[in-house]
Amino acid sequence: MSDITRLRAFVVDTARLLQNETSEATILAQLAPRLEDLIRHDDWLPEVSASTAGDHYRQHLLYADPLDRFSIVSFVWGPGQGTPIHDHRVWGLVGVLRGEEISVRYQQQPDGSLRAGAPERLTAGQVAAVSPAIGDIHAISNGLSDASSISIHVYGGNIGRIRRAVYDAETGAARDFISGYSNDTVPNLWPGHPA
Ligand code: FE2
Repeated sequence: MSDITRLRAFVVDTARLLQNETSEATILAQLAPRLEDLIRHDDWLPEVSASTAGDHYRQHLLYADPLDRFSIVSFVWGPGQGTPIHDHRVWGLVGVLRGEEISVRYQQQPDGSLRAGAPERLTAGQVAAVSPAIGDIHAISNGLSDASSISIHVYGGNIGRIRRAVYDAETGAARDFISGYSNDTVPNLWPGHPA
């Protein structure tokens, strides 16, 4: 049985930080250690938010700020699963909770094509950042061939509602998409404690 207390504390910390702070660099610098602390412990993610299904990765919304200032999402990658090349249009932090992930960053060239950077392997406990200011185009895939991997992402907006783009690896051509979320219900951050 998971205990969602850590996630609730992270939601509160993030909301409190964003109440007064607008500098992206400061937000990323202050939020990254908090996300590291959250993913250092693997005892809080509800089982339903860790589920895989079918042949596609899952993005389970854990919490969305009512003012769209931030969202927290659990990404679950089955063996062999990964994202297309995509961007975010807002800042984001990626923290691996379970398993390993391969992240490839891309830079758009003047002719519109994409140049891939060296693949980076992120293991459980590690955090990486994206944003239009520091590099916003990447693809993530499961680094394990025989198990699921799970990462917890925080974004500077409601990522499931943002119109953004996926890119063709060969031509760099962008196509609009709005990702939505895989789940219909979100975890209860305030569970009861029966007497
Ligand atoms: Fe991403």
